[in-house]
Amino acid sequence: MGKLDGKTIIITGGAKGQGAAEVRLATSLGAKVVVTDILGDAGKQIAEETGNSYLNLDVTSPEQWAEVVKFTVSEFGRVDGLINNAGIDQKNHGGVTDTPIDLYRTVIEVNQVGTFLGMNAVAPAMIEQKAGSIVNISSIAGMRGFAAVAYVASKWAVRGMTKTAANELGSSNIRVNSIHPGAIETDMLFDLGQDSINWLVSKVPMQRSGTPDEVGETAMFLLSDEASYISGAEIVVDGALITR
Ligand SMILES: NC(=O)c1ccc[n+]([C@@H]2O[C@H](COP(=O)([O-])OP(=O)(O)OC[C@H]3O[C@@H](n4cnc5c(N)ncnc54)[C@H](O)[C@@H]3O)[C@@H](O)[C@H]2O)c1
Repeated sequence: MGKLDGKTIIITGGAKGQGAAEVRLATSLGAKVVVTDILGDAGKQIAEETGNSYLNLDVTSPEQWAEVVKFTVSEFGRVDGLINNAGIDQKNHGGVTDTPIDLYRTVIEVNQVGTFLGMNAVAPAMIEQKAGSIVNISSIAGMRGFAAVAYVASKWAVRGMTKTAANELGSSNIRVNSIHPGAIETDMLFDLGQDSINWLVSKVPMQRSGTPDEVGETAMFLLSDEASYISGAEIVVDGALITR
């Protein structure tokens, strides 16, 4: 018996990094997963490897969200969980004086609007079935300031909208929580370059970066009935980096 037996979970950004780890973990725990991403080849490969379905989903598209929920309900009869995992970094790290508006809008559109659209799309099905668990992947950048103003703003927004959704949907037995990863070993971290990674890891009290599975296991817990009274919470997975 797995703790996600019989549950149907939609995961965004499931083609690689933390999303792919979550697809594998959820499948191993008994869930049916609808793997989504904009990276078709990699997404299909993960879906095939785990025996799941893949759908193309750009999280900024309300139309594509509607298709994903329609497919999930018609195929599996319900939507038990959603991990709003897809996200992009602010490649050109910058502050309020040097962040181009186009870059700012792009990051907000994917990380913030994409998360809102995900909750907006799955909520009606979850309300009807009077059950559901939504996990929003924010960041420790959603808890303090870093020199990446768009990314920070988007992740604070994810943390905030999680509270609104938990409040609004609690009476329908829908739980909504946010996870706040620190330095996690995916392309988003590797893209910073080794010098920056070394500097960041040196600031982590546990003196190491985290693995995608370590974030994934937290998401699995929140999706499962073991977390049946946890909603509106924020869980930091960062080796205590935020305590500094
Ligand atoms: N890696 C870290 O150190 C770290 C730290 C804190 C938070 N996070 C967050 O964790 C989440 C997962 O990131 P990751 O670390 O796995 O990085 P990643 O770059 O490996 O994966 C991000 C995934 O999101 C997908 N994606 C990007 N834009 C999309 C869009 N418009 N629609 C659908 N999918 C899209 C990408 O194709 C990719 O599969 C993100 O929300 C990120 O902000 C990461």
